Amino acid sequence: MTASQRPTVYIETYGCQMNVSDTELMLGKLTASGYEAVAQPDGADVILINTCAIREHAEQRVMGRIGEMKSRMSRGTVLGVTGCMAQRLGAELLDRAKHVSLVIGPDGYRDLPSLIESAREGVRAAATEFDLEEHYEDFTARRFDGVKAWIPVQRGCDYRCTYCIVPTTRGPERSRKLAEVVRETEAVVASGISEIVLLGQTVNSYFDGAHDFADLLRAVGSVEGVRRLRFTSPHPNDFSDRVIRAIAETTTVCEHVHLPMQSGSTRTLKRMLRRYTREGYLECVDRLRSAVPDLSLTTDIIVGFPGETEADFSETLSMVEAVGFDDAYTFKFSPRDGTPATRFPASDSVPDEIASERLARLIATVRARTRERNLELLGQRREVLVEKPARRGGLLQSKTRDFKVVMIPGDASLIGRYLNVELTGTTGSTFLGQVVHQRTPLPLAV
Ligand code: SAH
Ligand code: SF4
Ligand code: F3S
Repeated sequence: MTASQRPTVYIETYGCQMNVSDTELMLGKLTASGYEAVAQPDGADVILINTCAIREHAEQRVMGRIGEMKSRMSRGTVLGVTGCMAQRLGAELLDRAKHVSLVIGPDGYRDLPSLIESAREGVRAAATEFDLEEHYEDFTARRFDGVKAWIPVQRGCDYRCTYCIVPTTRGPERSRKLAEVVRETEAVVASGISEIVLLGQTVNSYFDGAHDFADLLRAVGSVEGVRRLRFTSPHPNDFSDRVIRAIAETTTVCEHVHLPMQSGSTRTLKRMLRRYTREGYLECVDRLRSAVPDLSLTTDIIVGFPGETEADFSETLSMVEAVGFDDAYTFKFSPRDGTPATRFPASDSVPDEIASERLARLIATVRARTRERNLELLGQRREVLVEKPARRGGLLQSKTRDFKVVMIPGDASLIGRYLNVELTGTTGSTFLGQVVHQRTPLPLAV
């Protein structure tokens, strides 16, 4: 770097949307402090790896990447590790990787500029204090997706699912003030974005001391210029009648809920401390579906949880059939240090071959159900929002309100527009669509 140039920063992001959103906040803070964001690590003055700790595999990937960065750094480059793995391992990471000079947990990003300054002078540091007041209200997120905006409304988690590291890495639950969320929504809309995704670990337990999630949905959903409102992830136990009514009555709220199930067996759910039964989950699905006809439902499922028997697992399979999910993210249980699930007797652990075999059966069941459901939708018309170029075939990738991915022909000038399409084909998971009628185009998102 020469004196006249601004220092450059590169951030690589792993994990969930909350981390993507945190990266946007960090980039906002650093660019406001004089840094220039760059898209490649090579030659960057500051490299940050924003990490995930949810499964062992996620951490292994990051450790590999941290190692690789050694060869991408030049003299004076500051390498920092942020996010959930930084929080979990803290100063231990400084010992494990000598070329890392900063370790910063999710509540420590306010001090990024000063920590980086010190690191440039050779001071290595780990900042992993939780700050229950921290929402980064004065940061302006630097967004890279020009079509939809992720807006965090809650940080941390107060549930204690026995498999999960998130309460350890993100700390206790706290909600932003409704007025702040509305203010950010208005700013986002003014920048040309009309799809909003509200983020929280159990987003529907949102409570800012005066307003609940129903109030929040109604307030954000009625901001002028918001055309689609989504939220992720809700917990089945936090769907009060008020929240369900707000979903049904707020026309901008999309007809899709991601409703993590984890298991279809009450016995397993109990050991996971999910705080609902198989019947309770089904009842939640029924309440949502009666309020919102044609609701699309997706879920998260874990297989091979300690003590899971073949009978428990077949209850998960039968739930996939009974609910008829539009799609599911499926995971093999990964023991996380310090979580209660690691304290079950060793004899409870499910051998890896069995877990792998169950995962394969689960994926096959989910895919068959998704395919069946998607075939039923062929010939229907949907409004889509064009998101980005598709990976293959010179097509564009777009999304329906009910979260179906539709590939359509067209050029990049359509990105950010709403179009009406007919669903003409499906691969089983995604659709091919033909534009049938073009609505008044919205201004292109920038
Ligand atoms: N807060 C969200 C989930 C966050 S983690 C919720 O409660 O729904 C995303 C998903 O990762 C979880 O839904 C779960 O299916 C999966 N997951 C979490 N911990 C895991 C572990 N130790 N092993 C395997 N999968 C896990
Ligand atoms: Fe983890 Fe459970 Fe909290 Fe979700 S609700 S983040 S799975 S502890
Ligand atoms: Fe991973 Fe942390 Fe999200 S552990 S899934 S990045 S909250």
